[in-house]
Amino acid sequence: MKIKNICCIGAGYVGGPTMAVIAQKCPDVKVTVVDLNEARIAAWNDEDVAKLPVYEPGLDEVVAEARGRNLFFSTEVDKAIDEADMIFISVNTPTKMYGAGKGMAADLKYIELCARQIARVAKNDKIVVEKSTLPVRTAEALKSILDNTGNGVNFHILSNPEFLAEGTAVQDLHNPDRVLIGGENEVAIQSLVDIYATWVPRERVLTTNVWSSELSKLTANAFLAQRVSSINAISELCEKTGADVNEVARAIGMDSRIGPKFLKSSVGFGGSCFQKDILNLVYIAKSYGLNEVADYWEQVVIMNNHQKSRFAKNIVKTLYNTVSGKKITMLGWAFKKDTNDTRESAAIDVAKDLIAEEAKISIYDPKVETSQIKMDLGSSFEYITVESDSYEACQGAHAIAVLTEWDEFKEYDWQKIYDSMLKPAFVFDGRNILDKQKMKEIGFVYTAVGSSNE
Ligand code: NAD
Ligand code: UGA
Repeated sequence: MKIKNICCIGAGYVGGPTMAVIAQKCPDVKVTVVDLNEARIAAWNDEDVAKLPVYEPGLDEVVAEARGRNLFFSTEVDKAIDEADMIFISVNTPTKMYGAGKGMAADLKYIELCARQIARVAKNDKIVVEKSTLPVRTAEALKSILDNTGNGVNFHILSNPEFLAEGTAVQDLHNPDRVLIGGENEVAIQSLVDIYATWVPRERVLTTNVWSSELSKLTANAFLAQRVSSINAISELCEKTGADVNEVARAIGMDSRIGPKFLKSSVGFGGSCFQKDILNLVYIAKSYGLNEVADYWEQVVIMNNHQKSRFAKNIVKTLYNTVSGKKITMLGWAFKKDTNDTRESAAIDVAKDLIAEEAKISIYDPKVETSQIKMDLGSSFEYITVESDSYEACQGAHAIAVLTEWDEFKEYDWQKIYDSMLKPAFVFDGRNILDKQKMKEIGFVYTAVGSSNE
């Protein structure tokens, strides 16, 4: 079955980039990305591709190539569903904040709404693809809704979780380690395989049963986050013992069984998915009575919270046990470099902890809008200032904390920054990106995660 018309519900960080790349690589397939959020759709349609709602290196070029040709962004959800042979569901699946499973389970209300809408609108057979990250066995619920409320239409459900990382989304989509497709119906599976096989080597397109596919996505994120928490746990030990976490990471990463990636110690992982997906895994394990399994994975999140909180505590302790009234500059607000996404960014927790200690916070980030920082901080926003110039942000500060590993921070004139600060001038490098030796030579009291202060 040759797919001619794709609809994707959800024009967010996943729906937008993934569909833009499918449209770029399959010019004969019409791809329509729909969303309820009118402002978001308007931004995707902005003539100026610098104003796309998602900042990702290279995405502007992909969108410029396909948009208006076979890539469309629209708020007309019903129309796009009706016209499509294949519908991707790429809506958000946040942690549930009410009722049973509060703070742990995935909130599937947006998924259910999509399923009901598809069932109501569809007049001919459809392949429905789970692109969102979902708890294992969600396809069962989807099928039940679609089969019981649809108009006698046949629905085939596939699971096709997304593994892109923000900041490298276009690269990851162009050249994925693997594409995973879970399903039962061979024809439906093959039609999705054919789309990816346009540009992904066939041996990297993996097909499994639906449940393996759903669970593999949660497991991949859990393993990745676990590596970060593992190295962060060691970072605290390094600070006490004189070992250097970068050296330890390098030494263990050269073991081919361990590998070098995801061993960068930091102020803690952020992003919309690691924490939510692990908590979801923990909840699923608990719901089957697997308490040891649940406790094992929950520790990854507990360790991450500890890492964020001890970073803020260390700033207070080093600044003579008080930051009250002191200007502290935070360089970076995004949860990692090369994205404007701030969801669950460690910077938010660190800022809140320092505001609670009455610090005066100044924030600079090259890509995050002030309005976003305001949303992230809520009422605490009145205690901070946001600067569009990093040197301005650092002027007169007692301390600088590096929260995101933006490349530009490495290129700064740190002597100039030092000269403009109060002395002693402290730098807390939450990303281990600055040159320790150079910073010390300039005169900074420089503290990095995972090495002692000597
Ligand atoms: P997002 O919040 O950026 O985007 C979701 C979009 O869906 C929003 O714009 C929202 O308005 C829209 N939406 C919700 N309900 C809708 C409905 N009924 N009809 C139309 N639009 C609707 O979220 P995201 O980061 O793109 O993540 C989406 C899913 O992909 C999540 O399950 C997430 O876990 C998963 N995922 C995310 C990433 C990532 O890097 N962000 C990577 C892999 C997987
Ligand atoms: C992660 C996964 O890498 C993707 O495969 C997955 O698709 C995605 O989650 C998802 O499901 O949403 P993402 O969160 O975008 O991608 O970015 P990562 O590169 O994984 O970084 C996550 C966090 O861990 C960031 O805060 C990053 O700074 C931190 N991190 C990462 C470290 O502190 N150290 C590392 O070595 C690696």
